[in-house]
Amino acid sequence: MKKRYIRHASELVTCKGSAPKHGKEMADIGLIKDGAVIIHDDKIVAVGTTEELDKQVDVKEYEVIDATGKTVMPGFVDSHTHFIFGGYRADEFSWRLKGDSYMSIMERGGGINATVVPTREATEEELMEAGEERLNRMLEFGVTTVEGKSGYGMDCDTELKQLRVMKKLDEKHPVDIVRTFLGPHSVLPEWKGKEREFIEEQLRVVMPKVKEENLAEFADIFTEKNVFNIEDSEYYLTEAKKMGFKLKIHADEIYQLGGSELAARVGAVSADHLLKASDEGIRQMRDAGVISTLLPATAFSLKEEYAPGRKMIDEGCAVAIASDLNPGSCFTNSIPLLVALGCIYMNMSIEEVITALTINGAAAVDRADVVGSLEPGKQADIVFLKYPSIHFMPYHTGINLVETVIKKGETVYHKEWK
Ligand code: NIG
Ligand code: FE
Repeated sequence: MKKRYIRHASELVTCKGSAPKHGKEMADIGLIKDGAVIIHDDKIVAVGTTEELDKQVDVKEYEVIDATGKTVMPGFVDSHTHFIFGGYRADEFSWRLKGDSYMSIMERGGGINATVVPTREATEEELMEAGEERLNRMLEFGVTTVEGKSGYGMDCDTELKQLRVMKKLDEKHPVDIVRTFLGPHSVLPEWKGKEREFIEEQLRVVMPKVKEENLAEFADIFTEKNVFNIEDSEYYLTEAKKMGFKLKIHADEIYQLGGSELAARVGAVSADHLLKASDEGIRQMRDAGVISTLLPATAFSLKEEYAPGRKMIDEGCAVAIASDLNPGSCFTNSIPLLVALGCIYMNMSIEEVITALTINGAAAVDRADVVGSLEPGKQADIVFLKYPSIHFMPYHTGINLVETVIKKGETVYHKEWK
């Protein structure tokens, strides 16, 4: 058995307790000064102060890791990404800088549809290679679990290809990948006005194959004006649930369409984006136990107003934060950017942001029993920051502070700060 003992962490963030954390609970990250963690193989077996755990271990049997001067915390869970895609859309970013809107670019044939052809044309090997590279960048930021969506194929073969690539990468790469089927991501010209038929095809042709090969555990849809309306989205989500998929929804991003209320009605695990969520929608998500997943780097990239994260927490919601990494609306997976936006523009405390990026992110991908906190029995997914306190995270703005990443008990990333 491999035995490792981390001791003398200046601040040990455990995020222990209820999962997900709602409202005021989000500020409680279970911080331990001079903290220590005992790891056996891939699991955490004890967490406490160094003084307490020193009494439990015979240091001669352990690989001792001195964390003096460091912050030690759970690996981040990036619970919303579209990281498998072909091609790039840098031209669209430059058009937006000149004043075009995301939706106007989409309406003239750009946007999500512009990623479909290069994703269809890419071989599985090419998608694997690009995907692996992106996973390596995630790991450097301390991300140890990521959610990834299909949705750039919009035909059966390409949707399955995207999901198979993620399944293979999950087996090969240290970062754990949770897979989501997002067939109804956009409406191709040939399906315009026939959205319900497109959804029927997803439900009757594509999704049974996804189930057969166990390629995705979540189903998601882009519910938006001029994309999929509330009625079609409700039908899709209700049917997907009957097939055994857990639900996610891209909701109330550009227009207030009632996606938050729909998420509550269908019992989605999470509703994501929520820039325009109504007060009633926020209350309904809270009461139905839907996690509000906020994607502030997308709002930043699109120059939109941020989702009302402060209000959601004050209302008692469980808020998660994720990157939304994708080739269009948000081509970044920078955790320091998310921290800065959460703290500076969304008026969240650093404790709330940490909860949103760890245990609540884990709950948003239904992994809160395995990852997202440092507690006995959980997977040893642990990040070391170079500095001694969580307060350096927003303060050393935009800088990646990650020094070491442990995944399932093994050191998988280390950076020498010289
Ligand atoms: O979450 N809003 C819909 N889907 C993605 C955008 C994907 C893209 O632009 O390629 C999102 O922002
Ligand atoms: Fe998205």
